[in-house]
Amino acid sequence: MATRLKYFVFYTIGHWANEVNVAPTIAEIKSAYLSEYSPAEDFIAAVQEFLVNPITESAIMKESVSNYGLMPKMRLQLAQSNAIASYLIQTQVEIDSCFSDEYPKEQARV
Ligand code: HEM
Repeated sequence: MATRLKYFVFYTIGHWANEVNVAPTIAEIKSAYLSEYSPAEDFIAAVQEFLVNPITESAIMKESVSNYGLMPKMRLQLAQSNAIASYLIQTQVEIDSCFSDEYPKEQARV
């Protein structure tokens, strides 16, 4: 999905390049949500909820909110937030080669 790809590219380039920290890394986010939510359906629902409505009250990474400010709200449709959250749990974003492994696959798909 082009929108999903766009956000991931934006997100990963910004954070994995690690020149300026503007937000927690996607791997940190996944780890925080995995430690709070299981099974996968709960993880997906929680990530979706935050994506659709990013508010301080529901944030679990309070230190990140203090450090970086609240994440901007993206106007995602339900299917898009679901696709993003599902992708996050299915993909090994925590390994270093993730971007170089996954990006060509996404390019081929869209
Ligand atoms: C697919 C794209 C994205 C996903 C899945 C995503 C997801 C998340 C999640 C789940 C959190 C943790 C929330 C919590 O504390 O419970 C978070 C935090 C954050 N994100 Fe994103 N995000 C995305 C894109 C972006 C973009 C594009 C920006 C900036 C332009 C951004 C900036 C931030 C910041 C500053 C935080 C830390 C403060 C906060 O929790 O709001 N994110 N993100």
